[in-house]
Amino acid sequence: MPSPRRPLISGNWKMHHNHFEAIQTVQKLSYRLTNDDYEAVDVSVHPPFTDIRSIQTLLQSENIPIALGAQHCHFEEKGAFTGEVAPSMLAKLDVTYVIAGHSERREVFGEDDEMVNKKVRAILKAEMTPILCVGETLDERDAGGTDDKVSGQVRAGLAGVKKEQVAGLVIAYEPIWAIGTGRTATPDDAQTTCAVVRATVADAFGADAAAAVRIQYGGSVKPGNAGDLMAQPDIDGALVGGASLDADEFARIVQWRMGD
Ligand code: 13P
Repeated sequence: MPSPRRPLISGNWKMHHNHFEAIQTVQKLSYRLTNDDYEAVDVSVHPPFTDIRSIQTLLQSENIPIALGAQHCHFEEKGAFTGEVAPSMLAKLDVTYVIAGHSERREVFGEDDEMVNKKVRAILKAEMTPILCVGETLDERDAGGTDDKVSGQVRAGLAGVKKEQVAGLVIAYEPIWAIGTGRTATPDDAQTTCAVVRATVADAFGADAAAAVRIQYGGSVKPGNAGDLMAQPDIDGALVGGASLDADEFARIVQWRMGD
């Protein structure tokens, strides 16, 4: 039976590309992608905050059907939080997807499960779609703790969220040891853990939510491995870091259906 879930390929640029570089990259990407691609796949780009307004204007003025994403936000609506950005500010810029709990935010900036959960709920309240990131370290993996870590992060990240909302959101499984290292989980391993994510959602929110939630794999996704990863039944998309900075490489990932 074909999957009811539309694939979502997202480019997380992290702290790369100023707004001039961002405009160029999205323009090049739009020259490479075709209507067939947009019919088959949802595509999002997640530039740094300083680029978002420029990319919003470009996408709208040229009618480019790429969704705008953000990498992070705060969970409060407003207040004395120097340096932070509120969900409603992103929604005003027509941001569709917001990443919550990326491992770099968890590890470098001390975000814990409770904060990530507050962000997920704040993003939903602002009528955007969270991309909740989960994943294990190499030590946790070697100790056989992958399933517990990932299912614990899914449960904690989605605590208090309604099952209809869970059905519409995105979970990204990103093994930390595969991020930016050139090491990718094998398609079988990635599938196994994505199936654990889906089973956790089923257990907590029911079979309908689990069947509808989209699960991305992230961690050194490249044009050469995207096809094998996307062929897995519980992998509905990719959260791409390094390879999304280059429009040609990212377009080849979006076009995984054609083979590379
Ligand atoms: P890489 O594709 O560079 O490994 O990054 C993955 C990632 O963290 C995307 O959010």
